[in-house]
Amino acid sequence: MNSNTSLLVFENPGLIAYYAAQKLATLSTKFTPAKPANIALSGGSTPKALFKLLAEAPFSEVVQWKNLRFFWGDERIVPPNDPESNFGAANELLFRHLPEPPMYYRVAGLLQPEEANVQYRNVLTQMVPINEYGIPVFDWIMLGMGSDGHTASIFPGQPLQNVQDDICGLASHPETGQKRVSFTMTVINAARDVSFLAAGAGKAEMLKRVIEEEDTTYPAAQVAPVSGGLEWCVDKAAATLLSPK
Ligand code: 6PG
Repeated sequence: MNSNTSLLVFENPGLIAYYAAQKLATLSTKFTPAKPANIALSGGSTPKALFKLLAEAPFSEVVQWKNLRFFWGDERIVPPNDPESNFGAANELLFRHLPEPPMYYRVAGLLQPEEANVQYRNVLTQMVPINEYGIPVFDWIMLGMGSDGHTASIFPGQPLQNVQDDICGLASHPETGQKRVSFTMTVINAARDVSFLAAGAGKAEMLKRVIEEEDTTYPAAQVAPVSGGLEWCVDKAAATLLSPK
């Protein structure tokens, strides 16, 4: 792991969620409605515990929601109320429970894949401050990791894995063929701060390959923010194969 990467091992997934909720609360105090923090959420099941925690006191009251804006690192091309929708999960478990939902910019899952991709690219460049290379710079990107080493919807061996001259693109789930829009590695590595949330014994083998062997065959191992921070928030079950420090 390089110098700006840290590994945090938690007893259980609930404590990962608590840590991430505290991080969001702290972040929210450092921004204002006029200059909100731009945050990208991950999909999948891991963040659901975080959403539930944030939807209740104390976090629902402590987080300065008006100082935050939410995006997604990837989204399935499905309707927003589809059980497969990453936006749908955040809305169902978190946003709709808040007195005043925060600003969010979701992928237009009802459009055709390429249209949704074009529309999201425009949203990202218009709503998120860009760096000198024209790349949107997120204040915090939350990621998950699949047991195959994918992150966001950047799957090993798919064309999107090597795209460096775009900020988002299309992917297909390798088993289901489900179409998705995803950040490219370019956007992820331009962020100020990136946190992986990964839990469960099913991630242990890949975690070793990614964190210790740094095998960039796997997209999760390609996450290396140019100047931002990177932290791996994992539970003990996922960390079982990592060498003790
Ligand atoms: C998605 C995610 C994806 C997810 C990993 C881990 O849309 O599926 O963004 O990258 O984070 O597959 O998923 P779990 O949290 O369910 O293990």
